[in-house]
Formats: sequence, C-alpha cells, structure tokens
Amino acid sequence: MDRETFAGRRVLISGGLGFIGSNLARNLVDLGARVTLVDSLVPEYGGNLFNIAGLEDRLQVNISDVRDEYSLRYLVQHKDLLFNLAGQTSHADSMQDPYTDLDINCRAQLSILESCRKHNPDIKIIFASTRQVYGKPEYLPVDEKHLLRPADVNGINKMAGEWYHIVYNNVYGVRACALRLTNTIGPRMRVKDARQTFVGTWIRQILEDKAFEVWDGGQVRDFTYVDDAVDALLLTASSEKTDGQVFNLGGTCVISLKELAELLIDVNGGGSYVVRSFPAERKKIDIGDYHADFSRIRSVLGWEPRVSLRDGLARTLAFYREHLKHYI
Ligand SMILES: NC(=O)c1ccc[n+]([C@@H]2O[C@H](COP(=O)([O-])OP(=O)(O)OC[C@H]3O[C@@H](n4cnc5c(N)ncnc54)[C@H](O)[C@@H]3O)[C@@H](O)[C@H]2O)c1
Repeated sequence: MDRETFAGRRVLISGGLGFIGSNLARNLVDLGARVTLVDSLVPEYGGNLFNIAGLEDRLQVNISDVRDEYSLRYLVQHKDLLFNLAGQTSHADSMQDPYTDLDINCRAQLSILESCRKHNPDIKIIFASTRQVYGKPEYLPVDEKHLLRPADVNGINKMAGEWYHIVYNNVYGVRACALRLTNTIGPRMRVKDARQTFVGTWIRQILEDKAFEVWDGGQVRDFTYVDDAVDALLLTASSEKTDGQVFNLGGTCVISLKELAELLIDVNGGGSYVVRSFPAERKKIDIGDYHADFSRIRSVLGWEPRVSLRDGLARTLAFYREHLKHYI
C-alpha cells in the first residue's frame, strides 16, 4: 500500500481500543495518519487500554460512547476518514439483551451518520459489518448476492447498521462502504470469554493448560488473520471504487471446528479439548457451515488473505504467551 495515502490524514476509529480497531490504529500511526480513537471501554466488550501499549503518545483517545450523539457530533468534525468499528459483538448477549444491541449496532449507527451528514459530509466511512447478516447459508461459498436473513438479533441490527451506511452514501453522498467480516483472529482479540469469538476462549484455555470445549465440531468456517483484515480496511478506505459498496472478507482455507482444534493443539505443541453438543439455546441461533466467497473484493481491490491459518494461530499464541495477564 502506498504510504502517502494515509500520511497526515485525520482518522477517527470508533471501537478503536478493541481488537480490530487497535490493530488498525497501529498500522495507521505507522503510515503517518493523525489518529483519534473513540471507545466506551464497556467491560463486556473487547476494548482494552493495553491494546495501544506503546502508542499512547502517537494518537488521541476519547473515552466516550457512540450512543452519545453530542460526543460523536464533535468527534466526526475535521476528520477525513471514519473506520466505524464500535459494536456489540456477542450473538448470545444480543438475544439476552436485544435493546442494548439495537442501541449500539443500529440506532447509534444512524446517529453517527446523521452527525457526519450535518457536520462533516466530506468524510469517508468504512463500516465493519459481519457475515452474520446472511444467517444460515443457502449455498457455499456465500457471495454478496446471497439473501440476507439473519439468525439472531445481532445480525438484524448489524444489517440495519450496514444499510444505513449505504443509504447515506446513495442519498446524501456521505461516502460509505461496508466490509462483511468473517471470524477474525489475532493478537488483541478478546480471550476472557467467548463474547467476541469462541477461538478466544480456546486460546486462553490452551495456554492455561485446560481442555477447551468444541461444540459439535463438524461445522466449517473460514478465518481471517487480523493483519489481513486491516489491509482490507486500508485498501477499502483508499479507493473511490468502494463508495456505496459491500464486500465479503474471507480466509485462506475452509476448516471444520474439530480440525481447527487439532491444528491449534499442533501449533501450540500440546493441549486437549472435549467435544460437547451445542447448548439448546445456542443451537437455535447457530448458522451451521459458513465460508465466504471473497472474489468481489479481490477483483475490485486486489485484496486476498495472505496469512495462513497455521501462521495466524502461531502469532496469536505467541502474543498471548507473553501478554495473557493483560487480557483476563
Ligand atoms: N472479530 C470478529 O470476528 C468480527 C467478525 C465480524 C464483524 N466484526 C465487527 O468488527 C467490529 C470490531 O470488532 P472487534 O472484533 O474488534 O470487537 P471488539 O469488541 O474488540 O471491538 C469493538 C469495540 O467497540 C467498543 N464499543 C462497543 N460499544 C461501544 C459504544 N457504544 N461506544 C463506543 N465504543 C463501543 C468496545 O469497547 C470495543 O473496544 C465490530 O463492529 C464487529 O461487529 C468482528
């Protein structure tokens, strides 16, 4: 990527203390961007000040909530780019507490866009959407033409959040686009519990010498290593061809969860797991097999995932071997 693209650019990252946001922030600071993070640091979510360890003097941090219209009205001003990553990520929590998910993933998204429309219509926004909007796939691999039929409240609200962005692009000319991320892994992911991804708990437990749980194990998935996700976010931001567009991200391979468990143990040099059946309430919102067709972003932007799953797991384990205490 051309370093010049981001040098001196004023960038706001919502959810910037979280997993993907903080990895993105590291890259943007190195590329010479003037970076501001906004994050609420709600303890149940993935935000963690340790995620920006060493960067504190090179960016601005604003601890506030994207549900606060007044904060956002101020923060979006004088920015060239908004990476809009703040979100409630837990599917189970979205069923227990649907209104919080609605407020963050849907209503706050609309108010962020309203702030941009009224106070900075020249900004460009990249929204972190999710494969969850597709629900249970009708065919594999899933491309962007697949029907959107979310299987849980989180998927519905993320879908609405995504489409507000596209509507504001099309109707008001506030340039916006969305990436539908699949399971993303890497350093700085939440490992305390499974709110962000089950892989987080697997990593924690294997490093604590405990057996981790695999539910069913037959489902297939794809995984994007976080550096590849960050590359996609940066490429998307730097091209005009992305305005109003939606792109899937994907992984370097398709793997069953049981195979993933074996791979993790192999990469770690030891460990064990137990297979359990899905808890009944989770089975109802499980999407079954999923993997993405990411040929659209490959043909438009030349993006494809580069880090193999084995390398991604190895780098993630290495990070948490050193820093686990900051994440539990
Ligand atoms: N990690 C994945 O596998 C994955 C997959 C699909 C989509 N996504 C999307 O990518 C985005 C980033 O996810 P992540 O994995 O980095 O999760 P994360 O939980 O680490 O990051 C989200 C950040 O948003 C912050 N946040 C939540 N609610 C907020 C609010 N109301 N106001 C301000 N900040 C708030 C959290 O504190 C957290 O730091 C999310 O929107 C998520 O839906 C992630």
